[in-house]
Amino acid sequence: AWTPTRGSEIITEHLPLEGAAMPILHAMQATFGYVPQDAVPMIASALNLSRAEVHGTLTFYHDFRHEPAGKHVVKVCVAEACQAAGGRATAAKISKTLNVGYGETRPDGQVTLEPIYCLGLCSCAPAAMVDGRLIGRIDDEEIEEIAAECGA
Ligand code: FES
Repeated sequence: AWTPTRGSEIITEHLPLEGAAMPILHAMQATFGYVPQDAVPMIASALNLSRAEVHGTLTFYHDFRHEPAGKHVVKVCVAEACQAAGGRATAAKISKTLNVGYGETRPDGQVTLEPIYCLGLCSCAPAAMVDGRLIGRIDDEEIEEIAAECGA
């Protein structure tokens, strides 16, 4: 879990790198699962940047999470090949079944749902990833399984 001490250790570790802001943000996300809001002023002062600059970098890249993720993370491909294979309807159905919107974590903390742009599984579209596991050719049965896995 996030502590300011662990946060400043990460900052110190990456400080010598050129353009340290990105490596620090990535390391924070890798360590805590998200980039805590409290880390922003710490990074800013260590790198001599304004808070607005650090915040800008943080929000520009959609990969960074601003809150802890749910217990399960479901990423649904919304890129072209999956869209062409009916991915839009699949994506909507997953959201409805899991009862959570894209970019959101369900209030019970069980699942975070995110859109993703191509999982490299285009030949098995529509595709998704559940807790790092790739799933292709998603059908209704698959959606039920994902929902069961995520306690929906
Ligand atoms: Fe969906 Fe490539 S477009 S996996």
